[in-house]
Amino acid sequence: MEQFIQQFDCDVTKMHDVSHHMLQTMKSGLAGKGGSLMMIPSFTDTPSGNESGVFLAVDFGGTNLRCLLIKTELNTIRNKVQRSMVLDPKIPTGEILFSTIASFIVEFLEENKSFLEPRPEVLPVGFTFSFPIQQTSIASGKLIMWTKEFVASGVVGKDVVELLHAELAKRKYEWVKVVALCNDTVGTLCASTTEHPTAKIGVILGTGSNACYQERMEAITKINQEGASSSSSSSSEAASKKMIINMEWGGYDGFPSTPEDDEVNHMTRKQGQQRLEKMVSGRYLPMLVRVCMNKCIRCGWILNCFDQEKIGVWDKNEELSLIEIGKVEHDRSPNMDMARSFIIRFCEDKSLDKNAIPLHEVVLIRSLFHAIVVRSARYAAVAISTLIQHIVTTGEQLEELTVAIDGSVYHKHIGYKEELHASVDKCCKSLMMGPTPPEVHVVGTQDGSGLGAAIIAAVQVAH
Ligand code: BGC
Repeated sequence: MEQFIQQFDCDVTKMHDVSHHMLQTMKSGLAGKGGSLMMIPSFTDTPSGNESGVFLAVDFGGTNLRCLLIKTELNTIRNKVQRSMVLDPKIPTGEILFSTIASFIVEFLEENKSFLEPRPEVLPVGFTFSFPIQQTSIASGKLIMWTKEFVASGVVGKDVVELLHAELAKRKYEWVKVVALCNDTVGTLCASTTEHPTAKIGVILGTGSNACYQERMEAITKINQEGASSSSSSSSEAASKKMIINMEWGGYDGFPSTPEDDEVNHMTRKQGQQRLEKMVSGRYLPMLVRVCMNKCIRCGWILNCFDQEKIGVWDKNEELSLIEIGKVEHDRSPNMDMARSFIIRFCEDKSLDKNAIPLHEVVLIRSLFHAIVVRSARYAAVAISTLIQHIVTTGEQLEELTVAIDGSVYHKHIGYKEELHASVDKCCKSLMMGPTPPEVHVVGTQDGSGLGAAIIAAVQVAH
């Protein structure tokens, strides 16, 4: 079993091949030549800092749907109210999904009427849609595919802003208008720049995983070819222009995987896609733990003390959560009672005696969980460091660079942050960062995806 656990080991200082391959894949994505990184232009740059007004942010991410009403003054948030609800990825159709979102918005605005007094003619909305969207402008974009096991039919290929506007119109809420559509990574980056002006990268490590960064316009050759940047600006002006790129790095397929990762991949809807996301994010890590536990049980490495039928398929009902995995990982009590109860809870027969499990097996299980989570943090760190390398070797000289990170895995999983920060540090030192490498800061941000959408909406209105 020790050997089995070792396959999740990852030395971030020895991942140069992966970094190199990822850089090539980024370039290919920017040139529109395919590969596993979509590199989607966001049609926005980081905000300039003097946007004011009242805005609605609608944040549709992996687990929750959130609405926030925000009053900004010179880019500072003066006041906000918010509400959220859980969204089931199994919602079967786009019609139900968008009607749920629109009804939620209407209820929320009804509840917070006083915030809007007098009612504006148009309430500008920043709509965060945390799935791969082919943006055609700042306020329109078509869903390329669902990720994170969402299934709603009839949405892929459609403009999600139009779908939302249609549902709002049915409810006589035409005055609520999306002026900016953005990915959660883009929102996170834009929300962080007020506090961290050197922020260049936004990362989500939550139910799903992804990153965005500020790219030079001239490097986004797929836009240049399509003539979208054909303005009358001079070439030096064009060279200084920037746009945020949504990488959709969850799709990156260059990291080493194990047979258990392949098994998880086969259990999911998007087989062969979102390979990095399936090794890193909160939607998939519990699946990987389940697959590994069942493999260890089948091989007789653990829980030999019980009849196989009494164990059954461990975590058959797929109830395991990442938070619980974290608790086991950090159970340092002498007899590891919490971890023992946890192991039995996911067996078929819940009356099995937890104290029959030899202590060394419980310790091995804890090591397995830890190895899986640490690998997630290290893969994310390698991806972040590679992105930093790209920015500093292709762009202007930077003295400092900030990476803004949000998401439940990053914030809630005990020890994850520390592992990630230490690994980014190590990995950056081992990669070529030019003659004068910048000082890198990795900072956690909260609420970024919602606030960022409102800020981007504010920028649009100001324009
Ligand atoms: C989506 C991305 C999103 C990420 C984090 C991924 O599954 O494809 O668009 O940014 O999850 O929410």
